[in-house]
Amino acid sequence: MSLIESSPDGVTIALHTANTTYAVRLDERTVRPIHWGPRISAAEAAEIPAWDSPYQDTFEGWLDGAEDFPVGGGAMFGPAALSFDGGDLHVAGHEIRGDELIVRLRGALEADLHYRVRPDTDVIERWSVVRAGHEVVLTDHAAAVWCVPVRDDYRLTHVTGGWVREGRLHRVEVPEAETTLISRRGVTSHATNPWVMLDDGTATEESGEVWTAALAFSGSWRITVSRTSAGRCSVLGAAGHDRTVTRLLPGEQAVSPIFAALYTGDGFGAASRAWHDYQAKYVLRHAGELRPVLYNSWEATSFDVSDEGQRALAERAAKLGVELFVVDDGWFGARTSDRAGLGDWFPNPHRFPDGLRPLADHIRSLGMDFGLWVEPEMVNPDSDLYRAHPDWTLHQPGVRATELRNQLVLDFTRPDVRDWAFATLDRIIRETGLSFLKWDFNRSFTQARPQSAIGHAQGVYAVIDQLRTTHPGVRVEACAGGGGRVDLGILARTDQVWTSDNTDAVDRLGIQHGYTQVYAPGTMVAWVTDSPNSITGRRVPLPFRFHVAMAGVLGLGGDLTTWTPDELDLAAEMVARYREIRPIVQHGTLYRLLPPEGSLSASQYILDGRIVVFVWRVSGAARTVRVRLRGLDPAVTYQGVSGAALMAAGLTVELPPGEGPVSALVQLQADPLTAQFSGPAEPESLK
Ligand code: GLA
Repeated sequence: MSLIESSPDGVTIALHTANTTYAVRLDERTVRPIHWGPRISAAEAAEIPAWDSPYQDTFEGWLDGAEDFPVGGGAMFGPAALSFDGGDLHVAGHEIRGDELIVRLRGALEADLHYRVRPDTDVIERWSVVRAGHEVVLTDHAAAVWCVPVRDDYRLTHVTGGWVREGRLHRVEVPEAETTLISRRGVTSHATNPWVMLDDGTATEESGEVWTAALAFSGSWRITVSRTSAGRCSVLGAAGHDRTVTRLLPGEQAVSPIFAALYTGDGFGAASRAWHDYQAKYVLRHAGELRPVLYNSWEATSFDVSDEGQRALAERAAKLGVELFVVDDGWFGARTSDRAGLGDWFPNPHRFPDGLRPLADHIRSLGMDFGLWVEPEMVNPDSDLYRAHPDWTLHQPGVRATELRNQLVLDFTRPDVRDWAFATLDRIIRETGLSFLKWDFNRSFTQARPQSAIGHAQGVYAVIDQLRTTHPGVRVEACAGGGGRVDLGILARTDQVWTSDNTDAVDRLGIQHGYTQVYAPGTMVAWVTDSPNSITGRRVPLPFRFHVAMAGVLGLGGDLTTWTPDELDLAAEMVARYREIRPIVQHGTLYRLLPPEGSLSASQYILDGRIVVFVWRVSGAARTVRVRLRGLDPAVTYQGVSGAALMAAGLTVELPPGEGPVSALVQLQADPLTAQFSGPAEPESLK
């Protein structure tokens, strides 16, 4: 069956993903969602009547919540996907181009609605392109609206948070209202994240229907979940916040970001796994690689960066098995605190009189790669860059400029600013031979012109894209004060994310739980730092700190010069263990066995019959925990126990003695004989 199929009369179109079907019906006026669920054929979809509102009086929009791209004007009162002054649009035709359906809306301007099936996943990507022959102001321009099939009730799963408290998971009944998740900050934000999951209130981690959508954008954005009194629930996703308008000149076009979505019948865990799988196949550029174990200097040295101090840390890190050493903030300009120097990307002449090359070479001679922290979008007013180019910021001279962390935002909608940023980073890469950049962003927008809400992030994308083309060997970590810029748009251009500035391993369990709802564990960087924790003051045993960080991309961030010989020995052992299990954690499939809601939580990763299970106990005295494993082949035995038994009765995990946080890591492997002879494949000898 091809990925996109039309009914014989050509008006119902079915988009088939690996396990699901999304079907629409085109009429002259609009695109009506017909089906979004298990696989059905276009002919079957053609038999499904389009939804009719039970309320057809003179006060209702009869199709509110039941259109794929509602255009403002006429009897529609929900949020519009597209609004502009002057005129109507109608469906003028459609085209199927391989794995893509394009529906053409025509009238006072042109809008093309794109639907792209991503083969071998359950994801459909949607976006819209608008152009006009005359100047036009778009007061709304969404990527797409996803309409959830009619159910008796609707529940919304989403995350909220803030700096050092990202990823708090919420599951709430959808009110008969418009619920908007929004960033007016010019960046994805810590406050919420651009994805939603919807279910009818009965789905669990392991079962039930879930519809989920994620917006691939890193500037301001909004997602509005609308539930009407007529029983419809839909999700609109757009770049730009509620006050953002787009002015299009004749011949220009506005291209929305992608608003991707998927359906699963197997619960929230399956929804997460489907997102992770999609990222590996279609989002992450280097998904096939293993992310290195890194050391980052920030918590150890803060702004007190020196050649000697970094060497002392690097020598210890190398002995522990670290593969990449990253010098964080404080290496450049007059940056000895957050008050000055941002924008002056030259090694601090007092700290590095011969530049960074000698340090970088020394780090490489220790067997590690060299990486640097940068924050290219920002400037301290106390910097040579600002003194030379005060007009380069979003905050024009003469206009009130709110400083946050003593810094202003450079305007990446300006070509000269983008050229400067590229040339600066290109020079640093060549001068140091670095292979890794941690790209940070440490304040929200204020006093920004409306076009910056979208245009700045597009400018950032352009600079990163140009860098990656020029320096294909350089890998990039996305960061915005921790997890303030995590989304599918930035993941398409970077390799990993600094998840949170909160490195307290107990807090981190919740933060990582929120992160992995949509984003792959192989992108989730987690450092082991000192105890007590510098932010929360909590004391957490070293093995627990490791086991939490080993559930993502392991890094170290403590002051290794103060660690005892025993701690360093344990750290070396843990790093070695991580390097052994890393393919399973970074490339495997995640099952969240016990969410971190109570005192116990557990996660399982599986790859080709190799299993890793982490169990964490944050309080209480339990010494053994029984966890039911998931996703095993029931007929295969794993170290003598059948997959069926491990899934039905569970695995008993012993926790070490002690009060407070304790943890365990268990590895299991499929027994070769049973693995070889199980499943649908014939034994080799009979072939
Ligand atoms: C942000 C990052 C930190 C660190 C500091 C440096 O807060 O999230 O990891 O790089 O900036 O100023």
